[in-house]
Amino acid sequence: MAAAVLLLLLLPALAAAQAQAQQMRTFSANDTNWSPAESNRTLVSNNGDFAAGFRPSPSSPAKFWFAVWVSANANESRPVVIWYALNNDHSAVEGDANSVLSIDAAGKLSWSDNGNSTTLWSRNSNSTSAPLSLNDSGSLDHGAWSSFEEPTDTLMASQAIPSNGTTTTTSITLQSQNGRFQLVNALTLQHGSSAYANITGNTALRNLTADGTLQLAGGNPSQLIASDQGSTRRLRRLTLDDDGNLRLYSLQSKKGQWRVVWQLVQELCTIRGACQGEANICVPQGADNTTCVCPPGYRPQGLGCAPKLNYSGKGNDDKFVRMDFVSFSGGADTGVSVPGKYMTSLTPQNLADCQSKCRANASCVAFGYKLGGDRTCLHYTRLVDGYWSPATEMSTYLRVVESNNDPNNFTGMTTMIDTVCPVRLALPVPPKQGRTTIRNIAIITALFAVELLAGVLSFWAFLRKYSQYREMARTLGLEYLPAGGPRRFSYAELKAATKEFSDLVGRGAYGKVYRGELPDRRAVAVKQLHGVGGGEAEFWAEVTIIARMHHLNLVRMWGFCADKEQRMLVYEYVPNGSLDKYLFAPGTGTQGDEEESNKRPLLDLHTRYRIALGVARAIAYLHEECLEWVLHCDIKPENILLEDDFCPKVSDFGLSKLTSKKEKVTMSRIRGTRGYMAPEWVIHREPITAKADVYSFGMVLLEIVSGRRNYGFRQDSVGSEDWYFPKWAFEKVYVERRIDDIIDPRIVQAEAYDDDPASLATVERMVKTAMWCLQDRADMRPSMGKVAKMLEGTVEITEPVKPTIFCVQDD
Ligand SMILES: *[C@@H]1O[C@H](CO)[C@@H](O)[C@H](O)[C@H]1NC(C)=O
Ligand SMILES: *[C@@H]1O[C@H](CO)[C@@H](O)[C@H](O)[C@H]1NC(C)=O
Ligand SMILES: *[C@@H]1O[C@H](CO)[C@@H](O)[C@H](O)[C@H]1NC(C)=O
Ligand SMILES: *[C@@H]1O[C@H](CO)[C@@H](O)[C@H](O)[C@H]1NC(C)=O
Ligand SMILES: *[C@@H]1O[C@H](CO)[C@@H](O)[C@H](O)[C@H]1NC(C)=O
Ligand SMILES: *[C@@H]1O[C@H](CO)[C@@H](O)[C@H](O)[C@H]1NC(C)=O
Ligand SMILES: *[C@@H]1O[C@H](CO)[C@@H](O)[C@H](O)[C@H]1NC(C)=O
Ligand SMILES: *[C@@H]1O[C@H](CO)[C@@H](O)[C@H](O)[C@H]1NC(C)=O
Ligand SMILES: *[C@@H]1O[C@H](CO)[C@@H](O)[C@H](O)[C@H]1NC(C)=O
Ligand SMILES: *[C@@H]1O[C@H](CO)[C@@H](O)[C@H](O)[C@H]1NC(C)=O
Ligand SMILES: *[C@@H]1O[C@H](CO)[C@@H](O)[C@H](O)[C@H]1NC(C)=O
Ligand SMILES: *[C@@H]1O[C@H](CO)[C@@H](O)[C@H](O)[C@H]1NC(C)=O
Repeated sequence: MAAAVLLLLLLPALAAAQAQAQQMRTFSANDTNWSPAESNRTLVSNNGDFAAGFRPSPSSPAKFWFAVWVSANANESRPVVIWYALNNDHSAVEGDANSVLSIDAAGKLSWSDNGNSTTLWSRNSNSTSAPLSLNDSGSLDHGAWSSFEEPTDTLMASQAIPSNGTTTTTSITLQSQNGRFQLVNALTLQHGSSAYANITGNTALRNLTADGTLQLAGGNPSQLIASDQGSTRRLRRLTLDDDGNLRLYSLQSKKGQWRVVWQLVQELCTIRGACQGEANICVPQGADNTTCVCPPGYRPQGLGCAPKLNYSGKGNDDKFVRMDFVSFSGGADTGVSVPGKYMTSLTPQNLADCQSKCRANASCVAFGYKLGGDRTCLHYTRLVDGYWSPATEMSTYLRVVESNNDPNNFTGMTTMIDTVCPVRLALPVPPKQGRTTIRNIAIITALFAVELLAGVLSFWAFLRKYSQYREMARTLGLEYLPAGGPRRFSYAELKAATKEFSDLVGRGAYGKVYRGELPDRRAVAVKQLHGVGGGEAEFWAEVTIIARMHHLNLVRMWGFCADKEQRMLVYEYVPNGSLDKYLFAPGTGTQGDEEESNKRPLLDLHTRYRIALGVARAIAYLHEECLEWVLHCDIKPENILLEDDFCPKVSDFGLSKLTSKKEKVTMSRIRGTRGYMAPEWVIHREPITAKADVYSFGMVLLEIVSGRRNYGFRQDSVGSEDWYFPKWAFEKVYVERRIDDIIDPRIVQAEAYDDDPASLATVERMVKTAMWCLQDRADMRPSMGKVAKMLEGTVEITEPVKPTIFCVQDD
């Protein structure tokens, strides 16, 4: 009762305090003391982009931080904080509502707890007259002191990484707001003492420039370029987020939203400490979220998981459950790949040896084994930092009580024993059914097991060398060996997942695409292939290669089906559809109803640049970084899918390998698409090489800039038989010097492009790169890796030879 009365009495007083809201340009010794209770009193920068003042602490709302935040286009309820007063241990200083900030006569800025006069935080300006002010680039300046010297979780453009000798802990460059993750020595991301990522190799970060480039301290490369690099008019920040990832954000001035334009870690689960607590396993949930689950035989306890039942440790009442693609860090305390304190690396004879050594040790709770020949065997005494990642090609064998029969959700590798989609025997039924067959299976299984467990040969060498085993195995439907390969689905499973192939979302050169949902609720695109040659084994071998290609800008393949005559591929579902739907106005060769197309956003130049660069990098990866050379052979806007954030994903790669051998001899029969096929391909004179993909990419690049089909364009504009898009574009760039004429007219109309020099330079780079890709002679075209560098602006683009008239033959 008394409290309520007090509150009623206080309310008007509080309201009165708030009414005295003020925005200050400076704060000096002459001003009245500044307290968190004055919630609206802020210091603002001249350009209005930044504000400083007290904000409630994210963890304890009764406490306050003294902070700088972005006020341009800010979401008032949750502005982006870019700096806060730090303690020496790099944590935020927290004061309560009646603490005060003041500057004394000697020019010392201090924040003290008024009740007992404890100084919470202070900085010396070394000047009696200097007021506190907020610079237009976001630094809080007080005489000789600047907040830019003490980065918190964020680095702003032109903020240098501080040299040693500041008041804060020197080795920590940035620390996430929740205090769990650090960027150490501007080089390594760490959780506690466990490192999980380097900026790039051994090269430290120096600063972020105003045009969105991350400068590195020497080394090669000397800089990292974000996808919206160019314009200097955007606000950008590099932040070590609370999930442990380092991201570069760019403020989209029109929408007032921060967009991620670069991030260091692509697989969030590889961040140490992504899941806290014992035995938890981090599993990705979409591209930018993760979740933590307990392994089979364990139940949640506290932050982590604990065994439901304990085994004796004598090795007589336990068993091992295999979890595919699951690894534990072992609590590494030294480096990324150095065994940690809870992990021992052994060199066993084989898998069985690795297992029996674990069983013999009462404190061994699990072991990790890498199938693939190098006999990696890791024994764990504690399970920390568990994560799921196919890139590791590891399985963890978890020790549980024998009676445990929890379902195991971590199955991804196909095995000969639990093949999901067993092969129907193609040969005549063997004369003696029953026991003999079972015995044969047992023998062959044993043969395989011996070979495999010995770990002497890698899987591929094994297949090549022991093709007689393969033949034997094939007749028994057993050629599917455990490997980090794609999951095999049965026709029935895919039929159920796609609701009997009811949701047709696309139709391509290789077949129809249906949308579906797997039982684990993952959305997938199921591609039903037609005209795929070769036997099941050959199909599977090729599919395995495709499934091994991991790149941010390639559509991920999760599995396949090879049931009887059916050949299907199961891909991740990319929500926004293909690039052509965004680039081309309806009626120029794109199906789809007009109303829907009007609702699609117009891609701005920076997004287009980002798409071009992503596609170039993906194709460069296919050409140069994959063990096998993979030509795409069908690069066109239809095969470039877009994520929610318009991150591009190239699809249909590797499919040209699936066509039958006979067709491969005459490559021309491979279905290319008119308008994107290189001259040598159409004229059938020279062999098809990676340079054919470069040509197709050049055409796509021109279409991305111009928003028009290379062949549709011809009819409406010039009507001449001789008209050839690359030639026309060449004249615009190098002869008339009117690059604006090439830019998509809708962008120009919508005034959606910053006509600043940086944007124009980006467009120019895209068009000039395209001119090199579209050279008539294949040997004149640069490699895809060089093309990516040209787009990035890390190599100079000289003037190419003019593309001549190239007659597109109609068939
Ligand atoms: C001051 O703060 C109150 C609530 O905290 C808010 O309603 C009011 O709009 C603010 N005034 C100004 C000028 O920002
Ligand atoms: C501001 O942030 C709040 C909380 O995150 C959110 O609910 C709201 O939609 C945001 N407003 C705008 C305009 O983005
Ligand atoms: C001053 O307040 C702080 C925090 O409220 C407390 O930890 C400290 O003991 C107090 N000091 C004195 C001398 O009362
Ligand atoms: C504070 O006021 C005094 C006297 O009016 C003036 O001389 C001095 O310059 C002022 N200081 C600041 C930092 O504004
Ligand atoms: C703001 O700070 C930056 C970096 O410290 C500096 O280069 C710039 O000159 C400052 N601008 C103003 C207006 O003081
Ligand atoms: C202020 O002067 C002291 C003593 O000369 C020096 O140690 C300190 O670094 C100076 N502070 C700043 C912010 O320059
Ligand atoms: C950022 O790095 C570049 C290149 O290393 C350098 O020229 C520039 O002076 C640096 N800027 C700052 C603010 O340190
Ligand atoms: C800061 O000091 C640490 C340890 O003394 C050293 O390893 C590091 O290289 C120094 N960093 C800079 C930027 O000088
Ligand atoms: C990260 O940098 C450290 C320090 O230079 C180095 O020892 C380590 O090998 C690097 N790790 C990787 C993965 O490049
Ligand atoms: C991430 O997933 C968790 C658990 O499903 C959910 O609660 C959370 O809101 C998600 N976070 C984001 C940013 O989507
Ligand atoms: C298993 O053993 C641990 C350690 O001895 C003990 O804390 C835990 O309660 C046991 N769990 C069960 C289910 O008995
Ligand atoms: C395994 O998957 C099933 C079905 O999706 C789910 O109900 C169960 O909770 C999962 N178990 C664990 C330990 O995640």
